[in-house]
Amino acid sequence: MKPAAEIREKIESLSAIPTLPTVLTNLLAVIDSEGTSIKHIGDLINKDQALSTRLLKMVNSPVYGFPGRISSVHQALMLVGLGALKGMLMGVAIFDAMQKTMIGLWEHSIGSAIAARLIAVKVGMKETEEASVAALIHDLGKVTFGICYPDEYKALLGKAKTEEQYIVDVERENFGVNHAEAGRWIAKKWNFPGNLVEAIAYHHKPELAKDAGELAAIVHLSDMIIKMIGFGFSGDPYVHQVNSKAWELLGLDGEDLKDVLSELEDAVSGESLSL
Ligand SMILES: [Fe+2]
Ligand SMILES: [Fe+2]
Repeated sequence: MKPAAEIREKIESLSAIPTLPTVLTNLLAVIDSEGTSIKHIGDLINKDQALSTRLLKMVNSPVYGFPGRISSVHQALMLVGLGALKGMLMGVAIFDAMQKTMIGLWEHSIGSAIAARLIAVKVGMKETEEASVAALIHDLGKVTFGICYPDEYKALLGKAKTEEQYIVDVERENFGVNHAEAGRWIAKKWNFPGNLVEAIAYHHKPELAKDAGELAAIVHLSDMIIKMIGFGFSGDPYVHQVNSKAWELLGLDGEDLKDVLSELEDAVSGESLSL
């Protein structure tokens, strides 16, 4: 096993995902700079045709479920807000990196994002966009492993399959940490909002979250139920058990779950998912 410090250093040195357009790397910095405005950020996004198109497709998809059509980047940013913006941009731009890491990871992430919104609505959360964004990028750590250690990570995915092990266990055996921890490093390094960092870090152990327990529990449940319905692929041969504390915290019952599952199945079978 490699020394943990070496792995952490390599992951944290990722100043950006290599396949991200330069405009996005600049944008992430602009969002952090003082006195920045949504208008300024919108102008920057509009300069990149590919990014703005994908962003509009995303906000008009079942991932967000906004009523009515959102036709401009500015309108999209107003709806999503600065808090969730970084995660959202990361989510729309991470597609290529996800595809390279693992076939099916993108679908798993999109599906989780839809599930998270449906659960957030059920539990009465006001800002459901935060739940969508957190679920969309919850497996960011897998992408960082895939970029930093491409051959090794491919081999680990093969090992999880042939030995029928959970990917978190195989990752830990090999790297000393799993993708949730690696995701926390990179999300912190990139100054993601605290809630998003916690949701990524604790999506497998939501009871450990300090400030964002509900969000982590939503992301956890969305991750489980998208696996249950078999949409996309997350690297695991089996579905993990739903964490009982997360389930209790959310206070949902069987009927709520049934509603979420049926709405989710409808959403992922729709054409609007082709982003
Ligand atoms: Fe995960
Ligand atoms: Fe996942």
